Amino acid sequence: MKIVFIFFFYFCLLQSCTCDDTIMRTHSMRDGDVIFSEGKRFAFGFFSLGVSNLRYVGIWYAQISEQTVVWVANRDSPMNDTSGVIRFSSSGNLCIYASANRTEPLWSTNVSDSILEPTLVARLSPLGNLVLLDSVTGKGYWESFDHPTDSSLPFMRLGFTRKDGLDRVLTAWKSPGDPSSGAFTYRINRTGFPQLILYKGLTPWWRTGSWTGLGWSGVPGMSRRRGSSISRSSFVNNQDEVSLTNRVTDASVLTRMMVNETGNVQRLIWVATEKRWNVFWSVPKEECDNYAHCGLNGYCDPTSSASFKINASICGREKEGFVRLKRVKIPDTSVASVDMNLTLKECKQRCLGNCSCVAYASAYHEGVGGARGCLTWHGDMLDARIYMNSGQDFYIRADREEIERWNKDGLLRKRRVIIIVISLIAAVMLLAVISFCFVRKRRKSNRERRYSTTLAPGSPFRFEEDRGREWELPLFEPNTIVTATNNFAFRNKLGEGGFGPVYKGVLENGMEIAVKRLAKNSGQGMEEFKNEVKLISKLQHRNLVRMLGCCVESEEKMLIYEYLPNKSLDCFIFDEEQRSELNWPKRMEIICGIARGILYLHQDSRLRIIHRDLKASNILLDNEMIPKIADFGMARIFGGNQIRGSTNRVVGTYGYMSPEYAMEGHFSVKSDVYSFGVLILEIITGKKNSAFHKESLNLVGQIWDLWNKGEATKIVDKLMNQEIYDESEVMKCVHIGLLCVQENASDRPDMPSVVSMFGHKANDFPPPKHPAFTSGRKPHVKNDDSTSGAYLSGENSNSVNDITLTDVHGR
Ligand SMILES: *[C@@H]1O[C@H](CO)[C@@H](O)[C@H](O)[C@H]1NC(C)=O
Ligand SMILES: *[C@@H]1O[C@H](CO)[C@@H](O)[C@H](O)[C@H]1NC(C)=O
Ligand SMILES: *[C@@H]1O[C@H](CO)[C@@H](O)[C@H](O)[C@H]1NC(C)=O
Ligand SMILES: *[C@@H]1O[C@H](CO)[C@@H](O)[C@H](O)[C@H]1NC(C)=O
Ligand SMILES: *[C@@H]1O[C@H](CO)[C@@H](O)[C@H](O)[C@H]1NC(C)=O
Ligand SMILES: *[C@@H]1O[C@H](CO)[C@@H](O)[C@H](O)[C@H]1NC(C)=O
Ligand SMILES: *[C@@H]1O[C@H](CO)[C@@H](O)[C@H](O)[C@H]1NC(C)=O
Ligand SMILES: *[C@@H]1O[C@H](CO)[C@@H](O)[C@H](O)[C@H]1NC(C)=O
Repeated sequence: MKIVFIFFFYFCLLQSCTCDDTIMRTHSMRDGDVIFSEGKRFAFGFFSLGVSNLRYVGIWYAQISEQTVVWVANRDSPMNDTSGVIRFSSSGNLCIYASANRTEPLWSTNVSDSILEPTLVARLSPLGNLVLLDSVTGKGYWESFDHPTDSSLPFMRLGFTRKDGLDRVLTAWKSPGDPSSGAFTYRINRTGFPQLILYKGLTPWWRTGSWTGLGWSGVPGMSRRRGSSISRSSFVNNQDEVSLTNRVTDASVLTRMMVNETGNVQRLIWVATEKRWNVFWSVPKEECDNYAHCGLNGYCDPTSSASFKINASICGREKEGFVRLKRVKIPDTSVASVDMNLTLKECKQRCLGNCSCVAYASAYHEGVGGARGCLTWHGDMLDARIYMNSGQDFYIRADREEIERWNKDGLLRKRRVIIIVISLIAAVMLLAVISFCFVRKRRKSNRERRYSTTLAPGSPFRFEEDRGREWELPLFEPNTIVTATNNFAFRNKLGEGGFGPVYKGVLENGMEIAVKRLAKNSGQGMEEFKNEVKLISKLQHRNLVRMLGCCVESEEKMLIYEYLPNKSLDCFIFDEEQRSELNWPKRMEIICGIARGILYLHQDSRLRIIHRDLKASNILLDNEMIPKIADFGMARIFGGNQIRGSTNRVVGTYGYMSPEYAMEGHFSVKSDVYSFGVLILEIITGKKNSAFHKESLNLVGQIWDLWNKGEATKIVDKLMNQEIYDESEVMKCVHIGLLCVQENASDRPDMPSVVSMFGHKANDFPPPKHPAFTSGRKPHVKNDDSTSGAYLSGENSNSVNDITLTDVHGR
């Protein structure tokens, strides 16, 4: 009987007081009392931070050892001791009092109308939302999700309502131990076309850009990111509200978004096995992300900046039009005019018809109908930037001269679609005849020479045999090419190289091709052209971009290449998102493929070709991620025994150039080996061996430093899935890379040795000696040709931070 009574009493206690997820109107909570959400994920109660004695009331994760507070009620009015209480006021507000006998609350839910229902309760929902509601009717009066502090939990909205003026804003803490309101806020700004902006005080700090229907204009790859499998974002913009909601697809995952004390917006996920929060997304990332980094009408990418030309007096002039910039985070839309009813075409007309309009863009991309909605700018623009593979099209008003200049400047070259063409013509002009003679002579005396490399068992390399038969270059009919490229339609133009424009085409059988139309004044005779095409077309290898043929019509000369839809290697290894998809086996495959390609160039039975401009942007990747070396614009062809040459015009790309070549103009197979070494190290680390580095050490220098400390594993790309790589194999590749970039050319292995090293154990390798250019200072280049650099070598120079010097004359 007694036991039953105690049980009953206990049961009552559980039901009536603060032991479950609810605070009744008639009850109060003292310091030390805690309520838990159903499922016990979240807790609500009193807490202190660090060594401070100040007491706060808030919500935190109940099951996480690391104290993670997601909401603080009285962030700006803490209690000094543990005598605080939480209870309802007579008007029905949930209040915090400094002690039980106080009547002035420190904090209140501030619902304006008195709530009289005795059934009013406060309940902590399983999502971590403290809700004031009528427990009988379910009518809600207030919720903590409408008054966030620094964190946004899944299903919580950020943004404002149009009617009652509610604005849900994240405000960072002052410091990690002080939850009072800090300097940074993250909110949707309703002026113009709504966008999410991170402010420091009242100054914009970073901008997501506007919502395009697929994601934020200024958040690269958001809709495609892998994180979307755990988290989805949705955006609402209607008569009632403008808001953003992040959801989780797997309810067991703990994830949140927060603004931290130093002004970063982070998204985190709890890694239970490691008992820590992992930041899987964080902005701003780079300097160029900072609001208005490039000033009025400026736009930038991480390595350069430029300005939109705004000139009101061009309005109404003949042939006035627009220049299209691709992959743009459009400028601040708070000063833009919006009309969601217009199509992009109508938008253009509207902009043309209004002399104050300087630029336009579509507002929304979702749906089958494609872009819709019209944004127009009528004055100075702020905070635009260009992405490698994100952003949207942006149209700037320009007159005809400007449009032409723009095209000529090759700014269009920074296009997303990669152009796959090899610039070879002028590069090999002089040597073509010599080489051709040489080939014939050599073929007579020495029909076939096999590779001399010995391969260890298990070597990842395969060789393709030189077939040694006469190869006839297909001649394409001019009509075929005209049809395939839609009569060289402007929209099919992939870019413009030093030797002429490049077009994409589709043959009748559906095959995609790239057509390079050589400039008429290339100065090459027909016979030389044919010889050279024959020569280059003999370079057939799985790891070289393939030439399919040529087309000759009176003055017109065209080269036809296979079309590769994928991007070049730099788009993969220097992009966080793409990189995280590249696991070690894939990277190894790519390294080996490049090595095979270079070996073929260096060791081909007939010719010895030194590429001279190996770099990540000159390696194209096909659909199966097979690397293909492109751009032979600077390649030198040698006779079989000649292994080095010299020039007083240095061409190539800083960061990839060997010291003897950059400084003295001596090039050899070993200068290609140097570039290959840099490539290996870049692929392993996902970092660029930038030549102009702010810090004292560039990538090669950093690796060399860590290598000597025995800590080289630290440099391996953190985004690579650790489980599927063998650390010793990665270190072996680092070792090979370091051997390739040694300062002294004679210390560097040649390509056959490099290739065989991949099949051997690293124990047998010599220790690497000091590499060249560790400081990342610009080498003093002996280059007296002031016009070099006027031509860019690769049409596929989408990596705008490459600085390429080319000599296309006088070879
Ligand atoms: C806490 O102490 C400070 C300074 O001693 C005082 O200004 C403040 O009013 C106190 N707060 C409460 C809630 O008693
Ligand atoms: C309120 O209660 C505290 C202790 O709980 C006591 O120290 C204080 O004197 C009381 N104040 C009043 C006005 O009753
Ligand atoms: C509640 O309203 C009062 C007066 O309008 C204001 O001073 C106070 O800051 C408000 N408290 C909260 C938590 O919003
Ligand atoms: C929104 O942006 C405009 C223009 O930049 C600014 O004047 C306004 O204060 C901003 N509004 C808010 C709520 O931050
Ligand atoms: C804020 O986030 C950034 C980026 O994730 C991080 O580098 C910085 O240390 C964080 N600041 C604090 C105070 O935690
Ligand atoms: C603006 O355009 C007009 C007409 O094309 C031209 O004469 C003038 O030089 C331009 N002004 C600037 C600053 O570019
Ligand atoms: C857009 O179209 C809708 C329906 O056709 C119309 O109700 C609305 O007023 C239009 N908005 C503007 C800005 O023209
Ligand atoms: C041009 O556009 C601006 C901004 O939308 C507008 O204020 C102005 O009335 C327009 N002018 C004409 C002639 O339509």
